[in-house]
Amino acid sequence: MSKKIAVLPGDGIGVEIIAEAVKVLEHLKSEGLDVELSEAPVGGAGYDAAGKPLPDETLALVKQADAILLGAVGGPQYENLPRELRPERGLLGLRSELGLFANLRPAILYPQLAEASSLKADVVSGLDIMIVRELTGGIYFGEPRGIRTNANGEREGFNTLVYSEPEIDRIARVAFDIAMKRGKQLCSVDKANVLEVSELWREVVKNVGAEYGEVELSHMYVDNAAMQLVKWPKQFDVMVTKNMFGDILSDAAAMLTGSIGMLPSASLDANSKGMYEPIHGSAPDIAGKGVANPLATILSVAMMLRYSLDETVLADRIDAAVGRVLDKGLRTPDIMTAGGRQIGTVEMGEAVLAEL
Ligand code: IPM
Ligand code: MG
Repeated sequence: MSKKIAVLPGDGIGVEIIAEAVKVLEHLKSEGLDVELSEAPVGGAGYDAAGKPLPDETLALVKQADAILLGAVGGPQYENLPRELRPERGLLGLRSELGLFANLRPAILYPQLAEASSLKADVVSGLDIMIVRELTGGIYFGEPRGIRTNANGEREGFNTLVYSEPEIDRIARVAFDIAMKRGKQLCSVDKANVLEVSELWREVVKNVGAEYGEVELSHMYVDNAAMQLVKWPKQFDVMVTKNMFGDILSDAAAMLTGSIGMLPSASLDANSKGMYEPIHGSAPDIAGKGVANPLATILSVAMMLRYSLDETVLADRIDAAVGRVLDKGLRTPDIMTAGGRQIGTVEMGEAVLAEL
């Protein structure tokens, strides 16, 4: 039976980069990959089309899909909408409605791009980290939350950072399983010196670790982890952390690789149904100019093939095609290196297709 892929371009450069990733999927389809693509609006585009960032029809489509390919959401024209109508709510709604609790964010440095990193080449060359971020819990979703007036008549904002034991247990297992397939080192990042929720986090991760004797488990406070990531990132293999810490650390890790425009991500539920998206945002400043880098989205297609469609060979082919395009010196502006040839979004998509 053919697999259903929901394609959600979203806003800003999302539209342009998804177009190139869809070309890759269509090409694989012409070679025999049995998939069916359907597109739907989300984020600001959802608001424009149906008055809310996650329209009912879009939600129905993604619920039926085997995998989802998402571009990016957000734009300045939506910033003054009430919070529940903002584009980001569409993304958070997708994550929670679909139970996509495990967010995998690889930070890999392509050797061809070592000089595009703002860190010294010897610090980042060969970098290959996997950040496993919990995605449907923690302070992003904790209740109570809001803005209220306190007893002194002052306004105060409040959020709740809460994790249940099962939530910690299941994300820890995902991280240990991934570590087993990689370098067998897992660093759990928390703030156990201050937060009770982190104390429990550490305890539960340790308990799960007892079942994974081969994996070397370490624990690090998040402030130190941020420092170590820029000091000597190659000390890390797999990192596992809460929703908000993962949000922050994954941006830092992305920059080690030279460009956030290169990094894909996967958000998985308990059955490996997944949503795949570049980790960068909608970049309104360059939207519509044809200069956005489509490689993170194309690499997200590779992750989709790997994690949700069980097509490892095709995934490897895409990864290799991207490598060859970089070998040829083809560069979008965000990854420009000395001697490279600057090209735009569509040319980059075509270059990958040609290599495929
Ligand atoms: C990310 C983004 C989102 C997040 C925003 C857009 C809600 O920064 O995917 O990292 O904070 O999770
Ligand atoms: Mg983020």
